[in-house]
Amino acid sequence: MLHDPNRVYVFDTTLRDGEQVPGCQLTTPEKIEIARELEALGVDIIEAGFPISSPGDFQSVVEISKAVTHPTVCALTRANKGDIDAAVQALQYAKHPRIHTGIGSSDQHIKHKFNSTRDEILARAVEAVKYAKGFVEDIEFYAEDAGRADIEFLARMVEAVIAAGATVVNIPDTNGYCLPDQYGAKIKFLKENVKNIDKAIISVHCHNDLGLATANSVAGLQNGARQIEGTINGIGERAGNTSIEEVVMILKTHQLGLHTNINARQFYEISRMVSTQMRMPVQPNKAIVGANAFAHSSGIHQDGFLKNRENYEIIKPEDVGFPSASIVLTARSGRHALKYHLERLGFTLDKPTLDDVYKRFLTLADSKLDINDEDLQSLMAVPEVK
Ligand code: KIV
Ligand code: ZN
Repeated sequence: MLHDPNRVYVFDTTLRDGEQVPGCQLTTPEKIEIARELEALGVDIIEAGFPISSPGDFQSVVEISKAVTHPTVCALTRANKGDIDAAVQALQYAKHPRIHTGIGSSDQHIKHKFNSTRDEILARAVEAVKYAKGFVEDIEFYAEDAGRADIEFLARMVEAVIAAGATVVNIPDTNGYCLPDQYGAKIKFLKENVKNIDKAIISVHCHNDLGLATANSVAGLQNGARQIEGTINGIGERAGNTSIEEVVMILKTHQLGLHTNINARQFYEISRMVSTQMRMPVQPNKAIVGANAFAHSSGIHQDGFLKNRENYEIIKPEDVGFPSASIVLTARSGRHALKYHLERLGFTLDKPTLDDVYKRFLTLADSKLDINDEDLQSLMAVPEVK
């Protein structure tokens, strides 16, 4: 397999891991709409569902396979023949099908979820990959709870599944447990110690239980992973998954020498679509796509921003499709922001007049959450106090 060594593949699991959020279930038509938008965004892989889990999920994988052309369509399975058979069936119309199979890799999961042993689990992992490979060329293997797995055992497992035919090896921090340096070191260890590791792509799949999903994913990429898994708006079980928009914009903002195929100008639109369809509001301070991500509200920031946007703007809002930056007028705003808005409305004020209006503005702003254009018009209508 020949790969651009600096290309990072983006694997979107909004419709599978993201949809596991209680109350966020989608209908098949809604999933198709999101899948088309993901295709326009430029994701490389869409994880469309877990076909064995329900007839509805099975049907969604079928319909998404028909609806998109460029992205690989992936279906999740556990490491057993029944799950894999269902995935093969559901992916029959996919132009580029991928089966995502796997099993627990930490001793916690091996003992307390599977009541098994490392050797038995390893055998089941290899058997599942070999079985799936009989139907589909592109097989991704996930070593669930790899974040807490013994690294030597994890390396054995990864080596064995690559030998069995896995094309991608997913190293999930299922419980969002790792620190970035720990997770990065895990990926580095696998890169340096697993035989034939270059025959497969290492994938990072991080959860956000400690708020570290994005940092861990980037640490994984810096240590040799070349596929990142996540969701739009970072939705997902518990505290969620890695937020795709955050990782992509980190790669664009910092010179790490890595690039994706994502058209970042689509982020705002798809974020709103996912939020609306899943009935899950985006927190206002969410990086990249939150309502306040490009809103400047304190006097010091507003003054600096109006002098030179780059004083307080590391990403241009238009680069992620955000309508525009905003200067919000509140009781923390200064004269510069007030003058900016009054000029926008056509008022040019000399300094004493601005001082007077500013005094009255502060009184009003102390009693109101934010000041709109109508409020400004009213302020200007009041005769100046001499
Ligand atoms: O978090 C996880 O381990 C998963 C796997 C099923 C890939 O979602
Ligand atoms: Zn997950």
